[in-house]
Amino acid sequence: MQSSVFRKVERDFNVKRQHAQSDARNFKKNVYDENPALEEIETKINMVALKSAKSRIFSDDLSRQVEQEKLEVKLEKLNREYNEKLKQIGLTREDFEPKYDCPKCNDTGFVDNKMCSCFNQEMINESFKQSNLSKIKEENFETFDFGYYSSTNNKDKYGIDKSPLENIDGIRKIAFKFSHSLDDPAQKNLLFTGSTGLGKTFLANCIAAEAIKQGKAVIYQTAPILLDKMVDYKFKFNKTESEREEYDKIFDVDLLIIDDLGTESMNSAKFSELFNILNTRLLKNKKILISTNLTPQEIKREYEERIFSRFVGDFLICRFVGEDIRLLKKKLSK
Ligand SMILES: Nc1ncnc2c1ncn2[C@@H]1O[C@H](COP(=O)(O)OP(=O)(O)OP(=O)(O)O)[C@@H](O)[C@H]1O
Ligand SMILES: [Mg+2]
Ligand SMILES: [Zn+2]
Repeated sequence: MQSSVFRKVERDFNVKRQHAQSDARNFKKNVYDENPALEEIETKINMVALKSAKSRIFSDDLSRQVEQEKLEVKLEKLNREYNEKLKQIGLTREDFEPKYDCPKCNDTGFVDNKMCSCFNQEMINESFKQSNLSKIKEENFETFDFGYYSSTNNKDKYGIDKSPLENIDGIRKIAFKFSHSLDDPAQKNLLFTGSTGLGKTFLANCIAAEAIKQGKAVIYQTAPILLDKMVDYKFKFNKTESEREEYDKIFDVDLLIIDDLGTESMNSAKFSELFNILNTRLLKNKKILISTNLTPQEIKREYEERIFSRFVGDFLICRFVGEDIRLLKKKLSK
């Protein structure tokens, strides 16, 4: 176990859980300050509930049973009154519950004494410093916006017979299916290719978010950082247990996302690490998503044949076309 990473994540989870709880308490207090009648009803509810519980313990004779029934009727009436008052201000009891990130473990990190997938993912994030994966709160299938893609066909400009909108619609469907088929041996890996600002990283984040939601473990890393890390590890003399685990995870996680392939400066050590990743993961049927500005022809030119041949055989190539969304956004904000 990566004890230092584990302890760090454990601490973060405690803090996160306490925040959720104190937020919930503060929210309730504010609502009560503005609606004192609610607090009064709750006090009554608590008193009657306590009486009722006591009376249940000692309900040996008939008169007690009658008393008990009366209390229960009263309790029901108070609860209805409370819910009604809440409804008038647009709330339900659920709004007073803490808002945990993970509904499976309520941010405890454990379910039935087993580590929750959210905790495992957080340990991966922590050891890989995956800053990009924190974006999945904003970049996911729910926030995906088709509005940036033109519905106009222009074969001369885009080089395909479809509009960018039709094209991205198809790719989005492939991406969604992929995120739900990580264990399926018949599912191919994905290669996103296309020029800058067309939404490749965005869609990669959508897939990561969807996979994590299903309890899958995901590593996201850009090619230059990933390959540097791997080569450093290879040449390191004294490897710690946690370094070894981190390295092994690259081959083991359910989904490995390598972003910006082609921006790294290659050398033979990096070629062999890249080949090692592709080969090992393909053999183990572990899915890979690669995103690049290079065209398949450029990949063929810049990488070795044994690497290129794997892209052709085992990857579904998704070609992004359209306008640079970064520029579109800039224009829109002016
Ligand atoms: N479908 C989408 N809906 C909303 N915003 C999007 C969408 N796709 C991309 N964006 C936004 O557009 C910008 C560029 O997208 P992104 O970073 O994914 O492009 P890219 O293809 O990865 O570019 P590069 O090749 O330079 O890495 C980002 O700010 C991103 O949030
Ligand atoms: Mg990108
Ligand atoms: Zn959890």
